[in-house]
Amino acid sequence: MANVTLTIDGQKVTVPAGTTVLDAARSAGIFIPTLCHDPVIPGFGACRLCVVEIPGMRNLPASCVTTVAEGMVVHTASEAVIEARRTIIDLLLANHPQDCLTCEKNGDCRLQDYAFMYGVRQTSFHGERKNYPLDDSNPYIIRDQNKCILCGKCVRTCQAVPGRSVIDFGYRGFNTRVVTAMDVPLGESDCVYCARCVAVCPVGALTYRPMAGKGRTWEMQKKPVTCTFCESGCTFE
Ligand code: FES
Repeated sequence: MANVTLTIDGQKVTVPAGTTVLDAARSAGIFIPTLCHDPVIPGFGACRLCVVEIPGMRNLPASCVTTVAEGMVVHTASEAVIEARRTIIDLLLANHPQDCLTCEKNGDCRLQDYAFMYGVRQTSFHGERKNYPLDDSNPYIIRDQNKCILCGKCVRTCQAVPGRSVIDFGYRGFNTRVVTAMDVPLGESDCVYCARCVAVCPVGALTYRPMAGKGRTWEMQKKPVTCTFCESGCTFE
C-alpha cells in the first residue's frame, strides 16, 4: 500500500494511505483524547473529543474517522481544538451524575480523566437530566444509564460478536439510550454475560457486579481473560 506523508503538530509523519489521522498521530507519539474510539471496532465519530484542526477544512473533523492525505497539515492542540474539547466535556457533564467520589469507576474513568486534563471542574450548562433506574437485573453486569455518554462502544462491541446483538441504540433525541430488544432489563435479555461491553465502557455506565464495592480500581490488577460463552474465544481485559 502506498505511503502518505503529512505534518502533525509540525512533525512529519509517514503512514500507509487509508490510515486515520488519529492513528497517524498516535504512531508519532502525539496524544489525542478519545471516548468512542476503540482500535478493534470500526470508527464511529460519536463523541467528537478527538477533533483536530486541518487548515482548509471548514469544521474541526473527528480524527478517528478522517483519513490522512498527502501534504495534509494537522493541529491537534490549537486554541480552537482545546476550546472545542472543553465544550464537549462540559456538555457531557451537563447530563452526567456528579458522584465521582463514590462511583465504581472513580480513578478509571476517561470522562473524569479528560475533565481534569482540560480543566472542566463543573458544567456550565443547566437543564433536564436523565433519571433512569439502576439496572441490576443481570448477575454479572450493573447498568447505570444515567452515566452513559452514548459513545456506542458497548453496542458496537456486542454486535461485533457473530450471532450476538443484544443491545442497540433506542429512542430519539434527549431520550436516546442503549437498550435491549423490547427494552427489557439486561437480566431478561439474551445477554450471555461475556462482559465485553463492561471492558470497553469508558465511564461508569457498565460495571462488573462481582467487583462492586470490593476495592478501588487502583487496588486491582487487570488480567486478560478469554470469553468462553461462544466459539469466538475473544480475549479482553
Ligand atoms: Fe473520535 Fe469519539 S474518538 S469521535
